[in-house]
Amino acid sequence: MTAAIDISDLTLRHSGSDAGQPALSGLSLTISPGESVALLGASGAGKTTLLTLCDGRLRGWRGQASVLGRSLSPDQAPALSARVDTGFIFQEFALVERSSVERNVLNGRLGRMPVLAGLFGRHSAEDRAAAYRAMSEAGIADLAHRRVDSLSGGQRQRVAIARCLAQEPQLILADEPVSNLDPARADDILGLITSAARARGATTVFSSHQPDLAMRHADRVIGLRDGKVQFDRPSANVTQQDIARIYHEGSSGDAPPPKPGLRVVC
Ligand SMILES: Nc1ncnc2c1ncn2[C@@H]1O[C@H](COP(=O)(O)OP(=O)(O)OP(=O)(O)O)[C@@H](O)[C@H]1O
Ligand SMILES: [Mg+2]
Repeated sequence: MTAAIDISDLTLRHSGSDAGQPALSGLSLTISPGESVALLGASGAGKTTLLTLCDGRLRGWRGQASVLGRSLSPDQAPALSARVDTGFIFQEFALVERSSVERNVLNGRLGRMPVLAGLFGRHSAEDRAAAYRAMSEAGIADLAHRRVDSLSGGQRQRVAIARCLAQEPQLILADEPVSNLDPARADDILGLITSAARARGATTVFSSHQPDLAMRHADRVIGLRDGKVQFDRPSANVTQQDIARIYHEGSSGDAPPPKPGLRVVC
């Protein structure tokens, strides 16, 4: 079976960073189709860098990386036709604030539309059906005609998720998708992302600073520290020692390991 993500001996130093520690350092991992994986690690561990790399947005790395069976290049961005199968949920939502919820969710269809139709916003019946399905799933169908700038943080996050689901991606990457939400809403939203992905047979990789929550919703947890994999196990097998190893000592900060139920603020 072709892996959803296959990374081997990958080292990446951000342009503009000093010549010290790379953001990802000799990193190798394989994620199978349909898996739901949480990335944990202290601030600066490399979570966003790894997700952004998998989204095909970083250049200048060494090693091998393929996503959904297509090799990524360290020299050039992937073709649009390759990117359409990967959806990204941003921490800050990245919505068009002055547009309606419906328009934002329809934007998730742009990569699947002919260029001219996309430019003029001429969505097909299929696009509208996918957008309404996604809004219903995200519990925001009744907000379709509201402007995004009139919504709460939790509602905006649901719009961002619906936009991603409307895209019908095979891989969902989410960078701290619940960092701005209260614990109950964070639980709901992570449940929504992972169950919508499972229902579609899609793979999910999300980063989080909330180990308990992440373990509850992911099948597997990868702990990163200083751009390297510290542990990689099924969620049920992650120990307090694992968590301590990624949050304790060294350049990743001297904060104690998170207590169950607490959010780690790094
Ligand atoms: N655009 C950039 N230019 C230079 N260095 C960067 C850039 N983005 C990230 N880095 C560096 O790369 C390393 C990894 O950063 P990254 O953002 O991936 O960490 P993270 O695990 O997502 O942290 P956080 O939990 O704070 O979001 C850090 O040392 C960071 O300073
Ligand atoms: Mg980050």
